[in-house]
Amino acid sequence: MKIFAYGIREDEKPSLENWQKANPEVEVGYTDQTLTPETAKLADGASGVVTLQTTPYERESLRILNDQGIKNISIRNVGYDNFNFDDLKEFDMKLSNVPVYSPNAIAEHAVLMIGRLLRRIPEVDQKFDNGDFTWAPTIGKEYREQTVGVIGTGHIGRVAIQMLQGFGAKVIAYDVYHNEDIEKQGLYIDTLDELYQQADVITLHVPLTSDNAYMINDDAISKMKDGVYIINCARGELISNEALIKGLDSHKIAGAGLDVLDHENNVFGKKWGSIDNLPDPTIKNIAERLNVILTPHNAFYTETAIRNMIEVSFNSNKDLIEGKIPDTLVFSKK
Ligand code: NAD
Ligand code: COI
Repeated sequence: MKIFAYGIREDEKPSLENWQKANPEVEVGYTDQTLTPETAKLADGASGVVTLQTTPYERESLRILNDQGIKNISIRNVGYDNFNFDDLKEFDMKLSNVPVYSPNAIAEHAVLMIGRLLRRIPEVDQKFDNGDFTWAPTIGKEYREQTVGVIGTGHIGRVAIQMLQGFGAKVIAYDVYHNEDIEKQGLYIDTLDELYQQADVITLHVPLTSDNAYMINDDAISKMKDGVYIINCARGELISNEALIKGLDSHKIAGAGLDVLDHENNVFGKKWGSIDNLPDPTIKNIAERLNVILTPHNAFYTETAIRNMIEVSFNSNKDLIEGKIPDTLVFSKK
């Protein structure tokens, strides 16, 4: 049995070597390149592929895999919004993900972003760089004075709620499905509109679907409190960049913490030398602001997460190849 992996980074290699040692019967090939029509042939001879990328999985890449008899794809991450399920159906492919590699990694990132915005740390850092060691005007706000609206109470949202409660914030939550524990705590409110009306801080922890793309748009922002903070560690396409900029310009939005951005692949993953060199004017506009904290889709990026991403994705791919159905299965025609 051979598994071929795409987009393998140096930091993943120790975990990959450990998996290989534990599974000597499996031949593993890999490349640091992502899965594209140009690289799809590299998997020749494999029965399954393991991948991770934020760019779309093109139909042509899947067609070339299919021509090589490869029907099993295992992503090393949670979100599978960059697949078109019609393509998977057409080629009768099975897809698995790693649904819970470390919710804490992403939840911590979101909660730290909130804290840094509340204490105006980017402004404090800039003052420090200028040798200004005075207090004013960077007076902060405390978590315990904030109502935080958590949208999405799945694996990540629930850990974020625990952490926020630890800091003393009042949490309200919205989800299309109710979690028993969150329900027991009485945190759910009925509608997004109510959450927008009540929340001082809003943090997004939902998958991107065809129903919720650009859910944070002009209309949604107009329903929010003046001076709201918006955090997005889920998917960039949940927020309209243009609406966000308008909200920041008008001070309706006091600040934003963004680990993901619409059109993030225009800038993330590359070294630009300086913000001044960003080629996407809309993203540059957002990135330049001192009340915006922007990170390059690295909320997931912890040692624990990487270990689990490799182990679970390769185990899932091996299961798929052996005809077993792993509990990480995301798509199968049958
Ligand atoms: P999850 O599936 O455990 O939870 C998602 C929750 O969202 C579920 O409870 C679901 O009912 C709810 N939901 C779905 N659509 C909704 C909608 N339209 N409105 C309200 N609630 C809705 O997923 P998770 O592990 O918590 O991850 C959430 C998302 O975070 C992932 O889908 C992924 O896009 C993103 N993510 C980002 C990073 C990162 O590094 N920034 C890492 C992992 C995951
Ligand atoms: C996910 O796991 O869904 C992420 O967003 C992480 C990223 C490496 C794709």
